[in-house]
Amino acid sequence: TSVFQGRSLLAEKDFTKAELEYLINFGIHVKDLKKRGVPHRYLEGKNIALLFEKNSTRTRAAFTTASIDLGAHPEFLGKNDIQLGKKESVEDTAKVLGSMFDGIEFRGFSQEVVEGLAEHSGVPVWNGLTDEWHPTQMIADFMTVKENFGKLEGVTLVYVGDGRNNMANSLLVTGAILGVNVRICAPKELFPTEEVVNYAEGFAKESGAELMITDDVAKGVKGANVLYTDVWVSMGEEDKFEERVNLLKPYQINMSMLEKTENMDGDLIVLHCLPAFHDTETEYGKMVEEKFGLSEMEITDEVFRSKYGRQFEEAENRMHSIKAIMAATLGDLFIPYVQ
Ligand code: CP
Ligand code: NVA
Repeated sequence: TSVFQGRSLLAEKDFTKAELEYLINFGIHVKDLKKRGVPHRYLEGKNIALLFEKNSTRTRAAFTTASIDLGAHPEFLGKNDIQLGKKESVEDTAKVLGSMFDGIEFRGFSQEVVEGLAEHSGVPVWNGLTDEWHPTQMIADFMTVKENFGKLEGVTLVYVGDGRNNMANSLLVTGAILGVNVRICAPKELFPTEEVVNYAEGFAKESGAELMITDDVAKGVKGANVLYTDVWVSMGEEDKFEERVNLLKPYQINMSMLEKTENMDGDLIVLHCLPAFHDTETEYGKMVEEKFGLSEMEITDEVFRSKYGRQFEEAENRMHSIKAIMAATLGDLFIPYVQ
């Protein structure tokens, strides 16, 4: 057995540096197996429930394809398909699903729900995003950082944008655990909460990560290795559109921000968890152009399509890293440590 067997992934703070590194390295390993066409059916015959209260492209697709490659059967249970939240409690739902499925993914609003599923189902539960945290995304993101830089410790990752959403929380805490220098560059109104900063500072003391929270773009991005951003309006807060656009306009990732890193000729990459608003191709894009006269939001199309933009490598890594997470926590094989 491993330290992972039977465990849930609900929030990054529950995992040590060595455990997170293990999952990242295991993700790199199963990616290599996939590329070489080597079977990796660690979850033969298992059933996986995929619960989604919020929309998803990457997380759903990654859990589905990862399950199938691992030999498991994924079953999608959308919010309009099941009784959860309307006619049935989290506890009762968890007990039923846990008696039929070997593992449960949950994406939704409340962190309490994903914790309740873990408490009452008796099987590993993986948090596919809540309002507070996005832990499976972190394994893919730091896997992408490791692939690009060959290391994690000492890399400087600057997140610009909404500093108090799930992505900012997760990057700050996970980076702090892993010894990655994380800066949150955001307007003061959107600085991370004290609770999240306290977690991160505690971990940074252990790992030696240098943390910075600033509203000053020039200071925040100088010397960045990774510039990271996310949507200005997260799922569930669509009523905050106007307020966010006004607050976050100066925090757009564009070529002039890249110049401010003073690292454009060095080892700079740009990441985005996606979906991204970088043009007016989408319904949202059109609405923002009409209402606010902006044809791009958190990242310009120019940067997105430039050699710096590595968001599609990162998206692909969602599948590889989710395989690692599921296999490590649910697999009954001995999984060797892979550097
Ligand atoms: N990055 C991410 O979680 O994408 P989806 O919302 O499409 O799953
Ligand atoms: N902060 C975004 C992340 C999407 C992957 C949201 O919650 O909508």
